[in-house]
Order: sequence, then C-alpha cells, then structure tokens
Amino acid sequence: MTWIIRTGPRRAGSETAVTAEAGLDEVLRDLPTWAPDPVELADLELLLAGVYAPLPGFLGSFDTAMVIAGGRLADGTPWPVPVTLTVPAELTGAEKVVLQDPEGVPLGVLTVTESWREPTSGGHRLAGPVQALRAPAHGPFHRLRRRPDEVTFDGDGNVLAVATREPLHRKRLGQLRQVAEQLSARVLVLPLLGGRHDEALVRALLAVRRELPEGAQIVPVPLPVRDADGTVTAERDLLLRSHVAAAYGASHLLADGGAEGTAIPVVVPEPWGYDADVEVWRPVARIDPDHVQAELTAERLGELLDRGEPVPDWFTPPAVATELAVARPPKLSRGFTVFFTGLSGSGKSTVARGLTDALVERQGRNVTLLDGDVVRRMLSAGLTFSKADRELNIRRIGYVAAEVTRHGGVAVCAPIAPYAATRAEVRAMVEAVGDFLLVHVATPLEECERRDRKGLYAKARAGQIPEFTGISDPYETPDDAALTLDTTELSTDEAVDRVLTLLVEGGYITGD
Ligand code: ADX
Repeated sequence: MTWIIRTGPRRAGSETAVTAEAGLDEVLRDLPTWAPDPVELADLELLLAGVYAPLPGFLGSFDTAMVIAGGRLADGTPWPVPVTLTVPAELTGAEKVVLQDPEGVPLGVLTVTESWREPTSGGHRLAGPVQALRAPAHGPFHRLRRRPDEVTFDGDGNVLAVATREPLHRKRLGQLRQVAEQLSARVLVLPLLGGRHDEALVRALLAVRRELPEGAQIVPVPLPVRDADGTVTAERDLLLRSHVAAAYGASHLLADGGAEGTAIPVVVPEPWGYDADVEVWRPVARIDPDHVQAELTAERLGELLDRGEPVPDWFTPPAVATELAVARPPKLSRGFTVFFTGLSGSGKSTVARGLTDALVERQGRNVTLLDGDVVRRMLSAGLTFSKADRELNIRRIGYVAAEVTRHGGVAVCAPIAPYAATRAEVRAMVEAVGDFLLVHVATPLEECERRDRKGLYAKARAGQIPEFTGISDPYETPDDAALTLDTTELSTDEAVDRVLTLLVEGGYITGD
C-alpha cells in the first residue's frame, strides 16, 4: 500500500491545543500527516475511544520493551501487546502529526513525546498521546461501532462477553446461553474486525441474534490479529481481548482457554456435543457416548465449502452457512490468480495467452490477462526497468490481479517479475481475497537468448539495453512455484495443459 506523506514546515504556535471545535483546519493545515497501517489504525481508534484505557497513546521504547518482556508497562500496569506507531524517517523530527485514514480523513493528532527506533528493524517510531479529531468512518459496519461509554446495560449485574473472529455456530451458541444463564448475565458479542471477511463475520453474528439471550448486544471492535509481531501469542491475544471486553463493561469473557492475569475472569465452558439421537446440542456429560456426533473439524468444513457442498444444519444455522460460503466460496466460482514469472522470451506470454483462451473456451470464466509487455504500454506506461520501477510495475499488476480475484474472476499475469520479495507482496495481496498460483516458466537463459524473438538479447549483449534481466540484471528463481515449466521441452499446448491439470487438481475448474 502507498501512503500519502505530507511533511511541511511547522508553523509557530503549532503547540496550540487542537480541538475538534475551534479553528481546526487552521491548526491542522501545516502539520505533517501520516496514514498508519491497518493494525496501527485499529489501535488509534481504540486509543481514541478509550477502549485501551489506561494507555494514553502510542508507546515509547521503554514501555514497549517492558510490555514485550513481561506484559507490563514501565509503571507496572499490566498491558499485553506493544501498541506502537511506525513512521517514515521524514517524520522523526515532528512535534505533532495528524493521523489519518487511508482516504486522507484526519482522525487524531499525535503529540510526540519520543522519537525512537525499533532495535531489530531500525524502523522509526513515534510515541505520545493522541487526541481525537473526528469519529472514524472507515470499515464495514462502522455504524454499529460504539465507544465503551455508548454501550449500556439496564441495571447492574454480570455481563458475559464473547470477543470473536469466528461466527457463532450451534455449539458455541448453546454454551453461551448456558454460561449466561449460570451467571445471570447479559450478553455482549464483540466481532473482532480486521480479518479477511469482516462483513461476512458481522452478518453471520447478526444472523444469530435471535438465538442469543434477550437483550444481547453486538458491537464490532477493530482488533486485527497482530501476526507481524511474533511477541503476540494466542495468550497475549486473549489478554488483549479481556482488556477490550472489560472496557466495554463485561464482567466475564467466554473463551476456550484461560490465561494468567486477564482483566476479567475467563469462563471456559464445559464440553458440548451434538446428540444425534435427539438432534440437540448439549453438554457431553449428558449424552449417551454412543450418540455423540463426530465433530465437524475446521479442515472438513473447509473441504465442504471448497466443493460447494452444504454445511450441515446440525452444525450451524443456514444463515451462518451462507456467510461461510461468502467468506470461502466454492473453488469453481472463487477468484484466483495464475501468476507466470520467467525471463524475457521464456514463453510466459504465449502460455498465458493459451491458458486464457482455454479458460474462456472451456469454462466460460471471466479472465483478465495482464501480460508484461501489454501492461507496460498501459498501466505502467512511462516506467523504466530500474529496480524501483520494476517493483512498482509488479505491485500495480498485483493490485489489479487482487481486484479481479476479489470479484470472483481469474487474473492471468505474465510479467518477468524478477524479484522474490515483490512476488511475495503480490501473493499476499491476492491471498487476502482469493487464491494465488505461481507458475515459473523456467526456460533457460541460453534458450531464451537463442530464440531472441524481439532481438533484445542481442541489444543487451551489445550494451544497448542496460539492466536487462538475465544479462545485466538479476532474476531470482522462485522456490514457491506451484508448477515449473520449461518450454524447451514442451509445446505451447502441452504447457497450457500442465497448467490446466494443476487447476483441475486444485478444484478450480472441472476436467473435460
Ligand atoms: S518486469 O521486470 O517489470 O517484470 P516486464 O515483464 O514488465 O518486466 O517487461 C518485460 C519486457 O520488457 C520484456 O519482455 C522485454 O520485451 C522488455 N524489456 C525492455 N527492457 C528490458 C530490460 N531492461 N529487462 C527486461 N526486459 C526488458
């Protein structure tokens, strides 16, 4: 993703308190702006909403080290995860920074108390308190979002929270009702946003509203998985969820395992099973062992969805099953990208074109071909073959391929894409919305040069084309290809057939 950075000279008087009411635009005008990444943006929203209380803002170097080492801030307050803000080097001298969402809407102002560097990566970080400018209006279902002070329950008494990145299936619903009853608790469902299918998650939870105890509330909270940071284990994630639930007024958290030092007690429900005899879910202890239905494992559920087969009603309500299929469509209608990589003249374009034709002829699927040379005439016109421009070119192809994939189409890409890191970026972009298959067209350089259909190798050897891949610029051989083809040994039809076989075996298309 590219972020807009606007750094400007700071005006005298920029330390004036920034308030949402008076002279906002004037005060903000000359402050540098920065759009944080999705995890940081979620943190900002939770800081501003008071969900992360008592955290005042983004953490400095000492607090961060203490949190990572022992789960506590420097002053001893328990806090499970590092809440930090990484910025480009240009911002390290700023006193205040306006933090904005990806569309450029200012959300808050950071008053910098420390500019520091992450010890391992050397990344620049800013710490300090944040002040709200306006309520964030990004993300799905933002109208359902509530600050903790906007969530109220009638009377006092227990509030049982479930903070989840998964839909609630029949077993969980039963356990939730049982524990709520035992605790005489009202129920608060906190869908944790920031995954791949936020909308489907919220819809799946809204769909089971009637199965929840009377008066249950559903409040989405942005809390992406922090997998980029190895310090956030499942246990730390549970601690964080307990903090969030507590901030929203919960007295108990329903979860499958406990942890030391949660902000509120975690209730681990007793095991439940499906009694196939009377067709109800109930505590396993109350079922004749002969009648306990085998669990539907996550793997088996995935297989059913991949094949477009119905998810059994005993497992989850039909409305939830519908959302599961939205999040993971059958492979025959799921979007995917076939990304060919290889040297110039390796045969990528020819095979990619053949594959495109075959897919359209055989399956009637919507296919977009993003050939290297064609892209360079349109989408990437004006770019050179410098490392930076090649990376940008591949990122653009990846962006378009991911959009095509997201819409259930097939993107067939055929650039050289010589750098492994950029290919990995494209894979990540596409896999966030569908499937990605890398095909390495590994025709050796000698053969590409022997063919030299465009006469470019001769020119490159003569020094007329600088930075030519394979001659004067590197090609990093992939180690993550689903298929490797060498067109020295294969005809175009044979090569296309190999790719089609891969797609049939993967379940993306039907065999003839
Ligand atoms: S990439 O490196 O950015 O992936 P891309 O696939 O778009 O390359 O373009 C490669 C095509 O541009 C080649 O097939 C060739 O026709 C042409 N070309 C022109 N200059 C170069 C160069 N310096 N290196 C490689 N290909 C080049």
